Amino acid sequence: MPAEPSTARDVEDENPLAEGLERLPVHPTTLTIFGATGDLSKRKLLPALYNLAHEGALPERFNLIGSSRGESSDEEFRKDAREAIEEYSRRETDPKVLDALLKSARYVRGSFDDPEVYEQLDKVTAELDSEAGIDFNRVYYLSTSPSFFSVIVEMLGKQGLDKHENSEVRVVIEKPIGTNLEEAKQLNADVLDVLDEDQVFRIDHYLGKETVQNVLAFRFANGLFEPIWNRNFIDSVQITAAEDIGIGSRAGYYDSSGALRDLVQNHMLQLLCLLCMEPPVNFSADEVRDEKVKVLHAIHPPEPDEVNEMAVRAQYASGVAAGEEVEGYLDEEDVPEDSHTETYAALRLEVDNWRWAGVPIYLRTGKRLARKVTEIAVALKPVPHLAFAQDGGAVGVQPNQIILTVQPNEGASISLGAKIPGTRMRIRPVNMEFLYGTAFMSESPEAYERLIMDAMRGDATLFTRDDEVEAQWRIIDPVLASWAEDKGDVAQYESGTQGPDEADDLLAAGHKWRAI
Ligand code: BG6
Repeated sequence: MPAEPSTARDVEDENPLAEGLERLPVHPTTLTIFGATGDLSKRKLLPALYNLAHEGALPERFNLIGSSRGESSDEEFRKDAREAIEEYSRRETDPKVLDALLKSARYVRGSFDDPEVYEQLDKVTAELDSEAGIDFNRVYYLSTSPSFFSVIVEMLGKQGLDKHENSEVRVVIEKPIGTNLEEAKQLNADVLDVLDEDQVFRIDHYLGKETVQNVLAFRFANGLFEPIWNRNFIDSVQITAAEDIGIGSRAGYYDSSGALRDLVQNHMLQLLCLLCMEPPVNFSADEVRDEKVKVLHAIHPPEPDEVNEMAVRAQYASGVAAGEEVEGYLDEEDVPEDSHTETYAALRLEVDNWRWAGVPIYLRTGKRLARKVTEIAVALKPVPHLAFAQDGGAVGVQPNQIILTVQPNEGASISLGAKIPGTRMRIRPVNMEFLYGTAFMSESPEAYERLIMDAMRGDATLFTRDDEVEAQWRIIDPVLASWAEDKGDVAQYESGTQGPDEADDLLAAGHKWRAI
């Protein structure tokens, strides 16, 4: 018999998820962040780089260049980056690691449409190559306002920074990829005018979450689920991405976006794809993405007269959320008082293929709901015959549910009917649970750590392809168009609650939203 692991180190060695943190070989890289002094960079990207450095996972030769419009020297950038990392890193910072990461960081100042920025960048990247005597790979991370995405790629092309003779050039693009199908197509076309698709890494940070990748592990590493993973056994699916926070200081962005664009078009449709896709032949980027695109193509976008039956929108009203009294969306600073932007969206979709035809797939997301929870709940059909019924024992019998919890309390649970101890055959649901925290005893890396690493390694499996993003918009566009035309009152829900009652209208007979 194999010996039981005896120390934390042994357990870690056996921990298959520790592979996410392992030191994979990465070619020496120069990473340039456009928008380096912005919010995303400070809260997520720089701390992710620090944590990779802390793990020893960054390439041994690594250079960081920050670029933005703000007035700053190399020194000031290093100081700001250090402060951001100290504030937002998921682990206590080690000054030695921080020093090593930032000591040679460079800063290129200017407006992203100014050719001088790219001349300067060309100079700095070339200097870094010649100082080290290495052709560094180049990764450009576009963490700017979306209006600059096309401009930056075009300028990189004009300056000849889109390729490099002896090394790879890759471009990471943040969301949103357009605000509708037409804009997404235009942006994809602009980008692919300069770059090849395999140089482009469109971020959907949900794909970097361990628990989201675990949907694939659960489905395709266990023989248990595949036989029941279809319309014959599955009754319905609910995907929830609830948040208790409001829009914070993001009114400018959020009011022109809304919940459908902000979370459904990207993160939630990705969750749906992973849940519904066919097993890929292998886990190469294109095999996985081909299967996801097939799912998206199998979803019929609502016709204008179907939108009201398939989609519900609402806005949060005042109430108590996350333990605080909060005001309603229309009273938030910088939100127009007649705004029709939804802070809650729910959809009922169907994947019209052999596996899923007829299975309702419900999606819902919202700000200022009862709590933060992201989960996929798969409800199975009831058993065909209950032999215990005469005894009154079947009262508590519920169809099985498989719940994949993305956050918080990451894990999975399966509800089973179990006998209540006693002389009578009485049954009630119990949960069989797997929790990440207990099973693996290690903190999962942040999504951005994984994604930055993958982009540096040139692995696009966890990034969205051009046709995939467009297929996502094709589903969402008709809803957006119909809501934009409808100037009627938007339903309201009290902050800190389960969301609007109107969402119940989407449900088929006998279905209920799970409690948030
Ligand atoms: C972002 C949205 O993409 O995802 C935010 O713009 C949202 O509005 C966030 O709060 C949720 O991400 P997470 O990782 O906290 O679930």
